[in-house]
Amino acid sequence: MVYPNRRTFLDNGRTAFSYILKQIGNNNKILLPSYIGITDKEGSGVFDPVLENGIDYDFYNVNKDLSIDTQDFLEKIKDPEIKSVLVIHYFGFAQNDIDQLATICKEHDKYLIEDCAHSLLSKFNNKGLGSFGDASFFSLHKILPMEGGGILQINNPNIKDPEITDTGHIRLFLKFDLSKIAETRRANYLYLLEKLKLLKGIEILYPGLPENIVPLNFPILIKNKDRNEVYFEMLDREIELVSLYYRLINQINESYSNSYYISKHIINLPIHQAITFSDIDEVVEELRKIIQK
Ligand SMILES: Cc1ncc(COP(=O)(O)O)c(C=O)c1O
Repeated sequence: MVYPNRRTFLDNGRTAFSYILKQIGNNNKILLPSYIGITDKEGSGVFDPVLENGIDYDFYNVNKDLSIDTQDFLEKIKDPEIKSVLVIHYFGFAQNDIDQLATICKEHDKYLIEDCAHSLLSKFNNKGLGSFGDASFFSLHKILPMEGGGILQINNPNIKDPEITDTGHIRLFLKFDLSKIAETRRANYLYLLEKLKLLKGIEILYPGLPENIVPLNFPILIKNKDRNEVYFEMLDREIELVSLYYRLINQINESYSNSYYISKHIINLPIHQAITFSDIDEVVEELRKIIQK
């Protein structure tokens, strides 16, 4: 059955996530991916709402390319205390076969929550990300030049909508040409991809760009150098980088070896709509000088 999409504009993504958690109730134990970041400035957009709502949690493993370790996922979802599952579509890319994950969650009678904070404009099988689970949330300021803003999307008719009004973000949101933004981000990603294929010393996390995927940025892993060193050298050379998911929450320790490795090696290069091909050439040139030094 296809549910109508019910969308509400809120202050940010985490407020929407918190609302969903409250609707599911506090005897909820949530199954989370083992790759969740934190920064001193912003805290953890994913984990803070879980802690604030006093919800118990467990983690499932991710593979080396951040996809879900399905074997571990299928094992953990059997826990009768688990009531909900969070799937994060990292950096705009759809996680595994999200349609199939939704079926698995239904079969096990668990709520599926999609974290689309990075994936406002991406689709899978011609359906917007965020439409597969029982509820989902988006972060507007990550993709659009906005101060804040988030969207809560509820797909399950048994979850009620919030009794709140829009915060003004909706008016701003409607002004953007989203298909143009999607097109530019995809073109920038593909352009950068061709350049980076020629660069030694890095690994490309997503070496293909599936149809209808609109990336947030371009994550790469720095193989033979310290990621922090590279990151700060790039900043010194006035290359703007997005610093995202390079430090994990304390609850995810080194035993989650794939997540830990990615966090220690990741750098996110810009591909947003305000950047040009010649800016991208410069990014690649500076990166080349630093990693081949
Ligand atoms: C994966 C992910 N989910 C949720 C959030 C929270 O989004 P917002 O900053 O809009 O609250 C963030 C950002 O911090 C994020 O990176």
